[in-house]
Amino acid sequence: MSKVTVVGAGAVGASCAEYIAMKNFASEVVLVDIKEGFAEGKAMDLAQTASLNGFDTKITGTTGDYSLTAGSQVAVITSGIPRKPGMTREELIGVNAGIVKGVVSSILKYSHEAIIIVVSNPMDTMAYLVHKVSGLPKNRVIGMGGALDSARFKYRLAEALACPASDVDGMVIAAHSDTGMLPLISKAAYRGVPVTEFLSEEKINYVVEETKVGGATLTKLLGTSAWYAPGAAVSTLVQSIVCDQKKLIPCSVLLEGEYGQKDICLGAPVIIGKDGVERILDLKLESAEAEKFASSAAAVREVNADLKNVL
Ligand code: 2OP
Repeated sequence: MSKVTVVGAGAVGASCAEYIAMKNFASEVVLVDIKEGFAEGKAMDLAQTASLNGFDTKITGTTGDYSLTAGSQVAVITSGIPRKPGMTREELIGVNAGIVKGVVSSILKYSHEAIIIVVSNPMDTMAYLVHKVSGLPKNRVIGMGGALDSARFKYRLAEALACPASDVDGMVIAAHSDTGMLPLISKAAYRGVPVTEFLSEEKINYVVEETKVGGATLTKLLGTSAWYAPGAAVSTLVQSIVCDQKKLIPCSVLLEGEYGQKDICLGAPVIIGKDGVERILDLKLESAEAEKFASSAAAVREVNADLKNVL
């Protein structure tokens, strides 16, 4: 039985639930929210699309009754406040850390085996917090940032190459932050051909910089943070776990020496299957990329230091 819990029925959580249902691989999605009736309403609205969209996934909503989430294989945490235009993800830590801490213990009370996917921001720090407060093994905590950032990178690469995004391969590692993201140009390709064969340095710089501020650009346009691509990124991770697909997806994981880092959650390429994080790839980076990875890690460590009041 593939039951998936999504905590937070705001735009991101509802979008996760919608894409998971539409892909029709899970038996049930349970949406949880603290706002009275909200998750129930979102779940009912979504469930009423089943006959139109041709999926069989049951969708349930609850105002904070975690007993309904019991036996979930995967739980997604989207709870907390989203950023407003001009805010960084890091500024959300004070409010979101307390919320995420409470949510993770409620999830684990009813789903002892759940693999946790962290979406709440600042995402790398929230994934680290989940590790610390839950004591879960590292294969069971996944921060979704790199999955989303890599999709945004492919969007920008496809735009620059004037080709379909499905022809493009690319990954973003390191932090899920406006300054700490590391789009790996050295590994980006157009059907296997390095993108550097097609794009000028100026175009490459544009792609990299637009990818890094991908979330901020949308926050400015929308007045709040984005939801379609975050929801789709989460659904891809959930499907790779539930269907044991072994997809290679960059995401935030506890590093234990990879990329020269320890005791930190940061984006790296990971093979995702039924056990969650099944393998972390410790790629050899070019020296400029390795330097950027190290400074990205240093910035995340500074934000992690702010967890001292909740740990
Ligand atoms: C974003 O980048 C929600 O952090 C997420 O849109």
